Amino acid sequence: MTTEIRYLGHASFQILTGGQSVLIDPFLTGNPQAAASADDIEADAILVTHGHEDHMADVEAIASRTGALVVSNFEIVSWFQKRGVENAHPMHIGGRHAFDFGVLKLTVAHHGSMLPDGSCGGSPAGLILKTEDVTIYDAGDTALFSDMRLIGDEEIDVAILPIGDNFTMGPEDSVRATQFIRPGTVIPAHYNTWPVIEQDTDAWAAAIEKDTSALPVVLKPGQSFSFDGVA
Ligand code: NI
Ligand code: MN
Repeated sequence: MTTEIRYLGHASFQILTGGQSVLIDPFLTGNPQAAASADDIEADAILVTHGHEDHMADVEAIASRTGALVVSNFEIVSWFQKRGVENAHPMHIGGRHAFDFGVLKLTVAHHGSMLPDGSCGGSPAGLILKTEDVTIYDAGDTALFSDMRLIGDEEIDVAILPIGDNFTMGPEDSVRATQFIRPGTVIPAHYNTWPVIEQDTDAWAAAIEKDTSALPVVLKPGQSFSFDGVA
């Protein structure tokens, strides 16, 4: 595949596809694991799963510097527009839209979404992004839920799942999620940023190998996954 999935630390990813840079949940400033700086990362689009600071801390700064299109639910997009972000596209759970970088659908996630100033950030979301050569499901921050089976019906190539526990599902539930989603590859996220979400990724990968048919791929911040391998 030509699409590259680059891990920036915590739940931040950069999808490089068809000449576009798509950021998911950019939290670089103040992220002890950040593999890039908000001052110079390139972005054509920024996808925001929910309103928590550790998913959108750098959205305004990157959007105002690059002019990147901000895509999120209606409430979060409205909030950014009131703060001066002009290039934005609101969606909502269950909706699908074709962008230059691929076809995006917002999915259910079980979590919160309050914005940093206490505003309502609508419902939290997961993302299914279908690029020209790969279908990626980023679950966002969520608990395990059995309707992940329906998401599995969308033939997911790569699933990005939180494994940190405490705020989201933990390693054991992420194994069950992988059984529901049936992806070819599963990448963990939302762990080891702070002590409360520390996890043993070797043990997690062994459990995925033992109990699912997916290939576990643990990326260090800064590493990229594509079907050519990890670089
Ligand atoms: Ni959150
Ligand atoms: Mn989070």
